[in-house]
Amino acid sequence: MSLPKAYVGLPIQEAGLKLLRGNVDFKIWEKEGAPPRDELLRDLKDVEGLLAGLPIRVDGELLDAAPKLKVVSNYAVGYDNIDVAAATRRGICVTNTPEVLTQATADLTFALILASARRIVEASAFLRSGDWKVWGPELLVGTDVAGAATGIVGFGQIGQAVARRARGFDMNVLYSDTERKPGAEALGAKYLPLEELLRESDFVTLHCLLNEQTRNLIGEKELRTMKKTAILINAARGPLVDQEALFRACSEKWICGAGLDVFVKEPVPMDEPLLTLPNVTTVPHIGSASGTSRNGMATRSAENLLAVLQGRKPVNLVNEEVWKD
Ligand code: GLV
Ligand code: GLV
Repeated sequence: MSLPKAYVGLPIQEAGLKLLRGNVDFKIWEKEGAPPRDELLRDLKDVEGLLAGLPIRVDGELLDAAPKLKVVSNYAVGYDNIDVAAATRRGICVTNTPEVLTQATADLTFALILASARRIVEASAFLRSGDWKVWGPELLVGTDVAGAATGIVGFGQIGQAVARRARGFDMNVLYSDTERKPGAEALGAKYLPLEELLRESDFVTLHCLLNEQTRNLIGEKELRTMKKTAILINAARGPLVDQEALFRACSEKWICGAGLDVFVKEPVPMDEPLLTLPNVTTVPHIGSASGTSRNGMATRSAENLLAVLQGRKPVNLVNEEVWKD
């Protein structure tokens, strides 16, 4: 019996590849970034499965180039690179990789909270540039974390993992979401509507999916609602924030600063004005970049792909409505 054909659009870890070998006949894009579009569309002509990464835009055009496609398995928890409605209309399963990256992403979020609060990147640059001539009471004084209120926007698995860390650092935890979450009380997290949360938080950290409801969730009005001493953290998706308004907020000191793992355009162009600000800490979309997390994403995305190709319901089906038992 011939094996189902698949295309693996990024060089995933061996932990995932070894699940695929012997079960699917696959071609893999081993280089950085997305494969050239025309080459990709050609390679999808007779595949039943696509394992995609964030650089691959999965839209109607791509799906039409792959008439045999049954599943798009995303190597990520977010799936804003995929037109899910277009996949659903064609009866194609879309899967993602939640859980396996929760702890790593919450850790990175906390690293940004601490780095931004205590000006770690700025302090390191100061020392290395030879500016450290004398120690003084006002040298690189930062923001307190203990006792501060952290406002978590989007209280899913990652948001809740951030809440646990915040409690460990003696912070008060607030959250907002489209609904109150069971279990929030056990985490000591208090629900507030977004506007109130913005007004009361010393740190505002974003953990929601990007979709048409959440695009530009944080714009000029929201940034002006935040405390002047507050710090915005985004390790979710760049377009949740109006980046141009954030630049003005950080340069004109409507807020104290920001810690960013994600940007509207990635890789972020080097002429992005935010990169010139010392009160903005930036890292290149590395939220889930830990060994355990990446192996988990490789394994989970391979399992989800295989499940559909073998006629089983995948564990992480995003568009439940396509599945018919
Ligand atoms: C990474 O950004 C992800 O969505 O997994
Ligand atoms: C700037 O680098 C900061 O950490 O605030």
